[in-house]
Amino acid sequence: MEGIRTVELFAGVGGFRLGLEAASDKFHFVWADQWEPSMREQYAFECYQAHFGNSENHVCQDIAKAKSDVPDHDLLVGGFPCQDYSIMKKNSAGIEGAKGVLWWQIDDILKEKRPLFVVLENVDRIIRSPAHQRGRDFSMILRSFYEKGYAVEWRVINAADYGNAQRRRRTFIVAYHNKTRCFQDLADGVCTKGLKYMHRYLMEHAVLTKAFPVSSHSRTYTESWIDELAYIDMPDVAAKQKAYFYNAGVMMNGRIYSVDVCPCRERAIPLGKILEKGPVDPRFFIRKEDMPQWVYAKGAKHEKRKRRDGSVYWFNEGAVRFPEPLDGPSRTMLTSEAQVGRTSHVVADPMTGRLRTLTPIECERLNGFPDGWTNTGMPEKMRYFCMGNALVVPLVTRIGLALIEAAGQ
Ligand SMILES: C[S@@+](CC[C@H](N)C(=O)[O-])C[C@H]1O[C@@H](n2cnc3c(N)ncnc32)[C@H](O)[C@@H]1O
Repeated sequence: MEGIRTVELFAGVGGFRLGLEAASDKFHFVWADQWEPSMREQYAFECYQAHFGNSENHVCQDIAKAKSDVPDHDLLVGGFPCQDYSIMKKNSAGIEGAKGVLWWQIDDILKEKRPLFVVLENVDRIIRSPAHQRGRDFSMILRSFYEKGYAVEWRVINAADYGNAQRRRRTFIVAYHNKTRCFQDLADGVCTKGLKYMHRYLMEHAVLTKAFPVSSHSRTYTESWIDELAYIDMPDVAAKQKAYFYNAGVMMNGRIYSVDVCPCRERAIPLGKILEKGPVDPRFFIRKEDMPQWVYAKGAKHEKRKRRDGSVYWFNEGAVRFPEPLDGPSRTMLTSEAQVGRTSHVVADPMTGRLRTLTPIECERLNGFPDGWTNTGMPEKMRYFCMGNALVVPLVTRIGLALIEAAGQ
């Protein structure tokens, strides 16, 4: 392979591209797609173009329409939208839900193009979704890869465990096609040594283990099957499969091994270290009149609330730290960051000691983007939104380096 022709789906503001290009100039981005369904203005796409150029290979269209234009490539990457995987919504529709359906767009591209490697990112909950049939959605994803001749490994990574400033937990999925050397090596090992080899592979040799070394593992593990002997077809998987997946796993020839692994922890960057040190604009400071709202949002609650049907229930939640501690990594940043709410970060400004929200630059730093990455003409609220959607770039760089090795580049 002369260089790695890479296609980026659900590109957002280009976190995958930024991370992979930092790893090696062997990643050649040949096509990208980004389209925000709920908005007329396409700010993330504009940001992508501002950094990577206006090109007919940068497409701003629903992937359902654009997928027929995807060129041949060696590596497919993307952080596919995840809203429906929320286990916070009790009746989560999982992969069959409106946005979850996007998985099948990836599936169609795999069917048509069979890239040698695939790297996907999603929320940590994807391996447990949906709430009423744990592990079903992820089993369907694994089956889908299996049917196309891929081996798959996954890890749930907390960015702070590997030296970043945010405790952002995401599932990374790496798949390689049976034409690759790493597939064949894994297949040989599993064929001759079985489950023991799958375990050793996860502890030492997997692409994601090279990127994110592990120190130990849990005593318990799960083994399951996703092949035709276990399930006739995909609807059969959807109807019957229930599986418990741990934070690491591998699927080879329809056999799945999964175990909880412990990261070789690297010192996280404390939140205090990424804060802007100079004077920040007054608009970031919490106004006196807004303080009660913040105090309420962050505080403990034990109160009666009404359901839509008029019935009453007790709502309980504990207090969260307010302001944030600065001596450890931050909590996960969401798309609603900086709006008054429980999940937004409020910090004591290093210069004045007064309480304020994070600035867009600080949010970029939490994800490892260069300062001002999203300062490409979008409204400030969208800069927060884009960072809430984005991934932690240095994690992708590490995966890129491990992938280069696996691809023999
Ligand atoms: C989780 S974010 C990925 C962010 C990206 N990894 C980054 O670093 O910015 C998913 C992206 O998919 C886009 N998206 C959602 N539905 C889409 C569709 N039907 N077609 C194309 N893109 C879509 C969203 O606008 C969002 O930017």
